[in-house]
Amino acid sequence: MNNSELQIKLLSRLQSTGREGMTETIAYLKGSDFFSVGCHRHHRYAGGLARHSLETCDYALRNRGELPEDSVIIAALLHDICTARSSAARHIHGHGRRSIQILSEICHLQLTQEEREAILLHMHPEAAAMLTNPLACLVCKADKLSAAGLVRVRNERIRSIDKKHGNNR
Ligand SMILES: [Fe+2]
Repeated sequence: MNNSELQIKLLSRLQSTGREGMTETIAYLKGSDFFSVGCHRHHRYAGGLARHSLETCDYALRNRGELPEDSVIIAALLHDICTARSSAARHIHGHGRRSIQILSEICHLQLTQEEREAILLHMHPEAAAMLTNPLACLVCKADKLSAAGLVRVRNERIRSIDKKHGNNR
């Protein structure tokens, strides 16, 4: 899956939530370097941030149990939005907290309490567990597994094998 395919998949997932403020959030992502940069410690290549976000989302969706799909998509895909550079967010500092501020103050995205905590605490699994917030625990785990290189974007491997064997399904 190339970078523009990743972008289409990521944006259509976000759009599918129908959440208030999503149009502004998508505009923010497109106006930043979200789809072209890599992460700082892993996925350190062009497009790495978008790939890591999708891997986190794919794992979280596969393991969401009873959790609402829209919450899983929003928390997993946007947990690292602060990593992207945007002139609109130059004054905001921090990591999880910065993501929340960007989403709330700039994008006016309506987040539930569980989604806020999941984004805020994605680097702190112990805190997420203490809050007994299953969404936060799931996003922490998915983030960690993707960072360790243990998650693939859904169907990607199968499709590349198909291509190799001339099967264009
Ligand atoms: Fe992350």
